[in-house]
Amino acid sequence: MSSSSSSTSTSATWKFQLLVLLLSWGWFSGGNGDISKVEDAQNFHVYYGQTFKVIKNSIDGRSYLLIQLGFHNPMPGFSSRLMGQTTQEWQKEQSIAPPESNLLSVPLSNYSVDTDFFPVSFFELLGLLESMKGITSTSLASECVMKLYEGGEIDIINKTEPQQLSLYAAHFTSQTDQPQACNFAIFAPLGEDYPLQRAEWIKFLGVFANVETRANQVYSAVRITVKSNYLCLNKSAASKTQSFKPIVAWMELDTQGIWSFNQETFKLKYVEDAGGENVDNSINKKTFNISIPDDLDDLHAILCTVDVVIDGTNTSDPINYNQSTFLKNIDVHDNFCFAFITNQSLWRYDKRIQNNSITLDWYDGAVAQPQLVLADLIEALFPTGNYTTTFFRNIAKGEGVVNIGASMCDRNISIAMEPTIIPCQE
Ligand SMILES: *[C@@H]1O[C@H](CO)[C@@H](O)[C@H](O)[C@H]1NC(C)=O
Ligand SMILES: *[C@@H]1O[C@H](CO)[C@@H](O)[C@H](O)[C@H]1NC(C)=O
Ligand SMILES: *[C@@H]1O[C@H](CO)[C@@H](O)[C@H](O)[C@H]1NC(C)=O
Ligand SMILES: *[C@@H]1O[C@H](CO)[C@@H](O)[C@H](O)[C@H]1NC(C)=O
Ligand SMILES: *[C@@H]1O[C@H](CO)[C@@H](O)[C@H](O)[C@H]1NC(C)=O
Ligand SMILES: *[C@@H]1O[C@H](CO)[C@@H](O)[C@H](O)[C@H]1NC(C)=O
Ligand SMILES: *[C@@H]1O[C@H](CO)[C@@H](O)[C@H](O)[C@H]1NC(C)=O
Ligand SMILES: *[C@@H]1O[C@H](CO)[C@@H](O)[C@H](O)[C@H]1NC(C)=O
Ligand SMILES: *[C@@H]1O[C@H](CO)[C@@H](O)[C@H](O)[C@H]1NC(C)=O
Ligand SMILES: *[C@@H]1O[C@H](CO)[C@@H](O)[C@H](O)[C@H]1NC(C)=O
Repeated sequence: MSSSSSSTSTSATWKFQLLVLLLSWGWFSGGNGDISKVEDAQNFHVYYGQTFKVIKNSIDGRSYLLIQLGFHNPMPGFSSRLMGQTTQEWQKEQSIAPPESNLLSVPLSNYSVDTDFFPVSFFELLGLLESMKGITSTSLASECVMKLYEGGEIDIINKTEPQQLSLYAAHFTSQTDQPQACNFAIFAPLGEDYPLQRAEWIKFLGVFANVETRANQVYSAVRITVKSNYLCLNKSAASKTQSFKPIVAWMELDTQGIWSFNQETFKLKYVEDAGGENVDNSINKKTFNISIPDDLDDLHAILCTVDVVIDGTNTSDPINYNQSTFLKNIDVHDNFCFAFITNQSLWRYDKRIQNNSITLDWYDGAVAQPQLVLADLIEALFPTGNYTTTFFRNIAKGEGVVNIGASMCDRNISIAMEPTIIPCQE
């Protein structure tokens, strides 16, 4: 370490420690004796001290200093050796980018959520729904959160009114572009490149509620969990590709009338992990303007080589988006001999929507439980006819949407939701 960087880190650490001493006065660890280690996610890190924890979120460069509430001693999980290591790590981090810290007491007694593209199902898997007390809208694809809301347990808050947001011990949001108050926590699983990395963000939320043990139970490669099930399905898919590797076009039409093949890393990864090949690996042209006949010809020619199409076009009316809509959107009126039409393999990921709205569970449950997405895709690529998909519907077979409503919440909300584990033999 150079002398200049060591002196910066020393002064930063001084400030940090001072803050901790002042704020942890009279408080001792109420830790649950377990810690979460980040295995796959790239964008957050957790450090444990004796009476505090720090989460660093690289998406917005912010850190959260979490002080343990309560008077319970001792804390088996927080050894002094670990403390020493993490202090060094912390110094290293500080010398790179001294962050501003948001300070919160944990476990949180209650919290509110900005529902815009926020996967609340992570809270369900952790068993934390009962402390959710505020939401910014009812645009939610969770039957049990809707039930709590309809039962008067959760209030609607106005996100442009800072006083309303300050009523909660923490306000969770995925929006990084808003002004942030000191009780804000930015939850950013969608910033990760790969499906498993996104799912691991359950550990981020677990740290705020001292439920690391539960978070580790849900996301782990060892026990039967989200990660191990995903990896098992991935292996089983790999064994199917020996005879045939279907070519998949994951594509969408934007509001300007341009079709494009998807470039988002996590979608490309899903297709590969399901045993498919992404169409855009082999072609150069990426966008097609439906008003230009040559573009349409090119698009049709490419689609002639494709086995499976996933149409991710955003629509204001998912319920009525069917195969006819897709064919109209690619400007095909007569009987084209597309293999994916003949074989009935034209999919959308808007199967689960909030009752008659445009709120998709794709942005919620699918983020927290990627093993279900992978199982859906394996069924799309290697159909057995024996598996009911969760998030994907086959519009070539006329499959419609599932409307999510509060009446569908049939579990005990006090108890954590179990992840759905798909039967799998490697
Ligand atoms: C939220 O607050 C803003 C300004 O503070 C106000 O203009 C808006 O009407 C409020 N929205 C609702 C739904 O009450
Ligand atoms: C949330 O918990 C805090 C204590 O941390 C309490 O002061 C506040 O009234 C609670 N808010 C709601 C809306 O329950
Ligand atoms: C899935 O399997 C393939 C090949 O067997 C491998 O390259 C890939 O990394 C696996 N995916 C994950 C998430 O481990
Ligand atoms: C698509 O092509 C039409 C006709 O050439 C053109 O007017 C339009 O601007 C193009 N759209 C985009 C988004 O480039
Ligand atoms: C889809 O379009 C609606 C407007 O119709 C918009 O509010 C929503 O954010 C869009 N969804 C995505 C994922 O861009
Ligand atoms: C698609 O929906 C429209 C009306 O929403 C209907 O007229 C048409 O027959 C449907 N097409 C298919 C293939 O189901
Ligand atoms: C499409 O159908 C052909 C013959 O009917 C079959 O050999 C092929 O495996 C099918 N492709 C997919 C992706 O189901
Ligand atoms: C369908 O699933 C059942 C058990 O879930 C299994 O016994 C059967 O072999 C499967 N059929 C096909 C065609 O895969
Ligand atoms: C769905 O919405 C309709 C109105 O659009 C309403 O009449 C119905 O009760 C809702 N169903 C559920 C399950 O919430
Ligand atoms: C739900 O679970 C809690 C905690 O285990 C239990 O106390 C409660 O009785 C259960 N409620 C119902 C309706 O089963």
